[in-house]
Parts: sequence; C-alpha cells; structure tokens
Amino acid sequence: RLAAPAPGWTTSADAIVVGSGIAGLTAALELRARVPRVLLITKSVLASGSTVWAQGGIAAALDPQDTPEAHSRDTLTAGAGLCDPVAVDVLVSEGPDRVRELAGLGAAFDVDQAGRISLTREGGHGTNRIAHAGGDATGAEISRALVARIEAVRNDPGVEVIEHAIVLDLLTAEPGPDGAPGPVCGVTLHVMGEGTRDGVGAALAPAVLLATGGIGQVYPSSTNPALATGDGLAAALRAGAPVADMEFVQFHPTVLWLGAGAKGQLPLVSEAVRGEGAMLLDTDGVRFMPDVHPMAELAPRDVVAHAIVRRMAATGADHVYLDCRHLDPGFVRARFPTIHARLLAEGIDLATDLVPVAPAHHFHSGGVLTDLHGRAGVPGLYAAGEVACTGVHGANRLASNSLLEGVVFAHRAAADIGARVQAGELALREPAERPGPAGLVAAAARARVQRLSALGPGVIRTGEGLEAAARGLAQVPTSPTAPGVVAQPQTAEWETTNLHQVATVLTATAAERTESRGGHFRADFPEPDDAWRVRVVASLDPDGALRLDRAPVSPSPGP
Ligand code: SIN
Repeated sequence: RLAAPAPGWTTSADAIVVGSGIAGLTAALELRARVPRVLLITKSVLASGSTVWAQGGIAAALDPQDTPEAHSRDTLTAGAGLCDPVAVDVLVSEGPDRVRELAGLGAAFDVDQAGRISLTREGGHGTNRIAHAGGDATGAEISRALVARIEAVRNDPGVEVIEHAIVLDLLTAEPGPDGAPGPVCGVTLHVMGEGTRDGVGAALAPAVLLATGGIGQVYPSSTNPALATGDGLAAALRAGAPVADMEFVQFHPTVLWLGAGAKGQLPLVSEAVRGEGAMLLDTDGVRFMPDVHPMAELAPRDVVAHAIVRRMAATGADHVYLDCRHLDPGFVRARFPTIHARLLAEGIDLATDLVPVAPAHHFHSGGVLTDLHGRAGVPGLYAAGEVACTGVHGANRLASNSLLEGVVFAHRAAADIGARVQAGELALREPAERPGPAGLVAAAARARVQRLSALGPGVIRTGEGLEAAARGLAQVPTSPTAPGVVAQPQTAEWETTNLHQVATVLTATAAERTESRGGHFRADFPEPDDAWRVRVVASLDPDGALRLDRAPVSPSPGP
C-alpha cells in the first residue's frame, strides 16, 4: 500500500467508478440506471484525461458494405497472434450499437451529405470504418456529450461526483484461507483541496470499476496528458489483481517532433492524416513505407513506428516528415482543424509544410486482466478502458479501437455490476488492514524512472537495456524512511510511486518475452517466436514479490 495518512472522512455507495474518460463516464451513466447510488471519482475535472485528446476516431462496422467479421480480421491481424478472439468478437459486434448510442446521447459525429456518419481509414483497417467528430476532435466531442449527461444529473441523490481526487489504494476484506485477495470494499482517495471534502478519505462500496486510463508518464514523452500516471493499474497490482500483456506498449508513429529534449505531453498528428493520403518521407525526401509493407503508410502502427526508427537510424536523423503537400490545402485544414491550429502555433502549416514527426509513447495495450464483463482477479473489482486488458488488443491495438473498447466493455461491466448488486451477490464487507510496509517514492525520482523506462522497455528493447533498467529501478528507494530520502505522502510522491511500480513490472515482462511481436520489439530477438504465443500475466504476492506466469491465448469463457 501507499504510505498515506489514515482516512479522515468516509462516504459510501453501491458502486464506485474511478476515472472520467469514455469508459468511466459510460459506466457511471449506465450504473445510475441500475443501482441506487454511484460515486464517480476523477483526478481533475470531469472533462479531463486521455479521451479528450483522442483525435482520429472510433472504429466500428457502420458502413453497410463493412462487417464485424472484417473489423475482427483487421483487429486480430494488428494484435499479432495474441488477441482473445472471443473478446474481439464482442468488441466488433457490439461496437456499432454503442457508437450509435453515443450519437443518441448527443455526440455529434461528422456526417456526409446524406446525413450518414462519415467514415475514414486509419492504419491496419482494410476499409473506411473510423467515425470522427469535429474533424480531428473525436474524443473531445464524445467527452463533451457524456459529461453533459452527467452534469444534467449531478444534483441527483443517486450520483455523487468527486473531482480533483487521486485514488490511492483499493480497500479489500480479509484474504481467504488460501491467501487469495479478499473482496474489494472501496478505495482510499485524496481530494486535492477542491470541493466539500479535503484530504485523505475512504469511499466504501461492494464494487469498484477502474477506468483510470494509461501510463504515459512512465516515459519522458508521450501523447498522454500529465494525469496518466498508472494510478489504477498500480493500485490493482497492490491489491493482488493480475495484470497481463504489460510489455505491449504502443508508440505512435507520427508525434510532432519538437526537438531532441522535448518532454511531457507532445502533440499527436493523427493517423487519420495518413488515412487521407499523407505520406512519410525521410530527411532526404525519400518515401520509404511502400518498400516496407503492402499497406505503406497505413500499415499497422507498430510496423510504421519501427520502420521510422530504422529509417532515422539509417539517415542519422532524429525525425522523419509527414507530407500533405499533394493534397488539397483547403481540405487538409478543414478536415484537421485541431492539428492544423496546434502546428500553426509551432510555425508549421499542415497543408503546405513538411511536418517533422517521430514515434513516441501513445497507448498501453496491457493492463488489469479482465473477463468479458470487466471483472478483474479480485472479487468486486472491475476495469474498463485503457487500464484494462480485455484481450482485444493482443500485442498491438488497431487504430481507433481504444475508444470503442472503452465504451463496449464499460457498458458490459456496468450491466454486470448492476445485476450482481441487485441480486445481493456483491455485498459491502469490512475493509481489512493491508499487511506489510507502506511504500513511497520521492517525486524527485520521477525523471530517473522515465529515463530508465525509455532506455529499457522503450521503442526498441534489448536484454542488456532491460537488465540495466531493472537494476536502476530496483535502486530507487521505495520507503519514505530510507536514508537520505525526502518523500512526503502527497500527490507527486503517490504518482511517482505508481510510475515506479508500473515501470518495474513493464520492464520485467519485457525482459521475460524473448521475441518481437506487436508493440514489443527486441533488437536481440527481432522475430516472432511461436513458442511465445502466450500471455505474460504478472501479479504481486502478498509480500510484494513480483510473480510472472504464462497463460495460453485461449478464448475467454463465453458471455
Ligand atoms: C490517432 O488519431 O492517430 C490516434 C488514434 C488511436 O490511437 O487509435
């Protein structure tokens, strides 16, 4: 557990949702109709987190010429042999209804002249199947529509929203006689000085859904916002929940290159720009993707990212260029208004200039292992969205499947929680004291953790680099009372502890997998190996020791 003051206040609900991206907002709205009291906790304001930054869109077989089977095929191909086909089937077959429901809730997707949702193409998709909004502001529009729905019921007694709150740890009941984690009974959280509650408190409920998003801040630079510090993933690990596919990290091929030292959240140049015909050129002006893959610039994301890294090594440059100059400038500026405005702030015109880009961290395909209903490996614990590992992404997520996964599986998880709460199957238990010492990593160690993550489980990995990263991470003091450590139980320290914990597990799983597949590229094992068509499942023993198991890639039990 994290070192933190004892809770000074307590609240309770029938279900707690942590996070207010597409998964958290969807779950909260669904649960409101199913249980008497829902508590929604978010780290900043409701309209924050990764969803609002999603540019490209949401994939679904909405075109009458398209089919869920075709979407499934593309998803399985991108996932490089590690997707759970049953979970993929759920994603693609329930996806179209969920997207139409989002439109019904007020999300204004871009439409064609006949009023049908416009569909575009992104990497790895064999057809146009990406719905978008505001051109390149899809996540922001979906978030706006869902937040408006929550705001409309915010004063209802059935919904409580706590903003500006970081969830610290999951509360769990006594473990069973076999030592298996006890059921979840809520969370501890710290409210950061806004609203009616302040300081550390406890929120009790028989069901907790984690929808806390990704791990972007594990790396020095990422397309993720500053809030993405892996808080839910780390809390689930500490509570004994297994996590899977941790080593599969997606590096987006076209992130604006702002110079060698650029850190923090970097601007994304959506894959949809390539979907509309943009090409990749090296710094000598040579187009290189047609020689790499039959889909050229629209090859799966890992293929494009690795091709760029290899090209940069060959040319000695630290970036390549995205070229839209052959497209109609008016169309480019109107189709991508958000990107165009962001680039203009850097003095670059998307329509007429070469745009310098390089791969950077974008998405975590792994996470808290769940079944088809979002149930995680601790009773009463659920996860949905980027923090979860449902098995739909396998080794590499297909473009624009992340918003879809969030909405489809949050919907399912909320239905499951609602049914189980109503049936009395999930009942509130007494939280037990978590044994063992409390940990805390000084905020000053954050840059070191990020540097080690880039050197170890970065875009191109080696056994040597991973060993060095593991050694470096193990040397970071994790006790607030370690000699020479200045660490106070406060947000920066809690976040850094979570980043350190996630980086440690990520490094260990990446070292374990001695092959290359999807979002895991090992220069020392550059080919996929059939013996590795297994998932690495990681968990923490009650004494905190990391355990790695291999699980077959088999269909999950049916719905
Ligand atoms: C993008 O717009 O390129 C990102 C979409 C995604 O991550 O799926």
